Amino acid sequence: MSHSPQPVISATGLYTPSESISNDELVAAFNAYVALYNRENADAIAAGELSELTESSVEFIEKASGIGSRFVVDKDGILDPAHMAPRLPMRSNDELSVLAEIGVAAARDALARAGRDAADVDAVLCAASNMQRAYPAMAIEIQNALGIDGFGFDMNVACSSATFGIQTAADYIRAGHAKSVLVVNPEICSGHLNWRDRDSHFIFGDVATAILVEDKDIAPAGHWDILGTKLKTVFSNNIRNNFGFLNRTHGTIDQAGPKTDKLFVQEGRKVFKEVVPMVAQMIVDQMAVLDLQGSDMRRLWLHQANTNMNRLIAHRVLGHEASEDESPTVLDTYGNTSSAGSIIAFHLHHDDMVAGDTGLICSFGAGYSAGTVFVRKT
Ligand code: COA
Repeated sequence: MSHSPQPVISATGLYTPSESISNDELVAAFNAYVALYNRENADAIAAGELSELTESSVEFIEKASGIGSRFVVDKDGILDPAHMAPRLPMRSNDELSVLAEIGVAAARDALARAGRDAADVDAVLCAASNMQRAYPAMAIEIQNALGIDGFGFDMNVACSSATFGIQTAADYIRAGHAKSVLVVNPEICSGHLNWRDRDSHFIFGDVATAILVEDKDIAPAGHWDILGTKLKTVFSNNIRNNFGFLNRTHGTIDQAGPKTDKLFVQEGRKVFKEVVPMVAQMIVDQMAVLDLQGSDMRRLWLHQANTNMNRLIAHRVLGHEASEDESPTVLDTYGNTSSAGSIIAFHLHHDDMVAGDTGLICSFGAGYSAGTVFVRKT
């Protein structure tokens, strides 16, 4: 009788940068920049040619988003009011690139937790919001650094990249193309965030996560069965980044004020209003397909963009206000880390779950895009 492969999650890994920026530090630097800008442009502002910039506030950030601090790969550059961006020295082509470096660190963590030798992995998917370069693929550099004999490629579905990566890996396993696939999510969001934009300067942080998806036959004890996955995309310009090789000058990055379209820009209110119902409905529909009730869901590891969004989505799914135990947040310490957010939540908040417990990893974001991965602890 032929064996039919069943994809499971064997382990996850996490790399957290050593530096972090609190809201107090962030707002102090932003407001110093605002004062500098308003002073330097005082004449143009008085003449009505430029608008005066307005200060940011810690209270607003905490209330509107739930974000308390964020980890970053370079704190000094971001907090320098004259620079307001990470300073990452160019590396030679012979050195491991910074995005690959943090991806490798997360991948090694996942491999160690699974007791898996890199030589036994068949494929690497680098699934993240922003790749450092066009090619060679970041995934192939990570594959090489880990000593994996197989194949790798990059995939970008913005904040939903990790769940899209998990389904892709699961499909490779079902099809018999691989037995062990590493999905790696290195997110250096600080490089594409406009730290001079009051509306969004507080949102993102840097991190890397990794997920080892394998055939159940070779998976370690205590793995997670994947009960079902579902992906959805609906085009929207409400979250957009126009950076690319056809418009490679960085445009207005060094100017203050209005949004620069080569960096992250969004209509946060519209995103909130449109994405919450879309994602909640998608989860509820998928639960019906899998014959799951709200009461069957032990824990939701939701995308970490905004605590208020998660509260609304979790309420709809569970049928009651979710506790921190039912829908843990990592936004307070990590900020929004794009595709890595729901994986960090899963990674840090699953040790107490027991065999038979069911949970949901769910991501959503630019595209729009959304992905659900229902899992059960074995
Ligand atoms: N400090 C102080 N006040 C600020 C501010 C800041 N940094 N940024 C904006 N404000 C002010 C605005 O000027 C506005 O003032 P007004 O009412 O006088 O005009 C007020 O706060 C409300 O601004 P708004 O942008 O409507 O805030 P919000 O409540 O929608 O919260 C977000 C903003 C971004 C936190 C929220 O919309 C959000 O999280 N949306 C979803 C984002 C998301 O998931 N994106 C996906 C990214 S992957």
